[in-house]
Amino acid sequence: MNYRHAYHAGSFVDVVKHAVLLQMLEYLQKKPTPYCYIDTHAGEGCYDLTSDVTQKTQEAQQGVQQLRLQAKTHPASLDSYFHGIRDINIYPGSPMWAAQLARPTDSMILNEKHASTYQHLKECFRGYSHVAIHQRDAYEFLPAVIPPPEKRGLVLIDPAFEDEHEMQYLINCLNKCFQRWPTGMYLIWIPMVGRSYYTANDLMHAGFKKYLTIEFCVNSPKNAAGLIGCSLLLINPPWQIETQLNPVLEYLWQVLHIDADSTWSLKIQSDD
Ligand SMILES: C[S@@+](CC[C@H](N)C(=O)[O-])C[C@H]1O[C@@H](n2cnc3c(N)ncnc32)[C@H](O)[C@@H]1O
Repeated sequence: MNYRHAYHAGSFVDVVKHAVLLQMLEYLQKKPTPYCYIDTHAGEGCYDLTSDVTQKTQEAQQGVQQLRLQAKTHPASLDSYFHGIRDINIYPGSPMWAAQLARPTDSMILNEKHASTYQHLKECFRGYSHVAIHQRDAYEFLPAVIPPPEKRGLVLIDPAFEDEHEMQYLINCLNKCFQRWPTGMYLIWIPMVGRSYYTANDLMHAGFKKYLTIEFCVNSPKNAAGLIGCSLLLINPPWQIETQLNPVLEYLWQVLHIDADSTWSLKIQSDD
């Protein structure tokens, strides 16, 4: 396995994923009852943007660094995101974003399979008493830890997509999750690469009744190969969350898009 998220930390797809993640966590915080955050592919936890690895790809230049240039004009719903990127040299990974928002009563369960990445993650979360950290295969780990005792919460599934069978693993895992915790919120990230890519709809199956899909591209498939954007699937979206997400996505697209022919969309689907 070669994937290291440090090469991609702060990229435009990281920004979109983390901005949407924060909207979900802020929604969960509207109620005083505790929630559980579960991260199946946690990565290192936080990233040094001055390191040789991140400097090599410069992906943050087209992502978080673009946002920093626009910091004064952002919508209020991105206040937490901008607060989280105030240190110019460090970019938080998904578990650190969740930790920055978590209240003392909320819990977090993180998982990372890759040994050296897992060591970074443990180091990053040293001293965080409400955070449990596992080193397991994501698709074996997740069904084993749900439903959490809190019975409310969010799962982030953010694979590296190195394995050609990843989508099948994901579908099998989601089927098990639906049996075990049908009311949990699940946020799944999928890359959109070149002219042919998977979309969130490829993941849908009979079990889950309500879901929201986002497609966010900074390049058009007509004009670019490689990673043109990402797709996010949110199973069991909160009621009217689109009113919060639409302005966030429009702002991010205005700041991050490269090709004016690119676009973003948000659709809510319900089998009810
Ligand atoms: C896209 S990165 C995660 C980034 C992180 N969620 C964030 O937003 O900061 C994917 C991570 O999954 C790990 N990984 C790959 N296959 C895995 C598996 N089967 N189970 C658990 N982790 C895995 C990789 O080592 C990598 O750190």
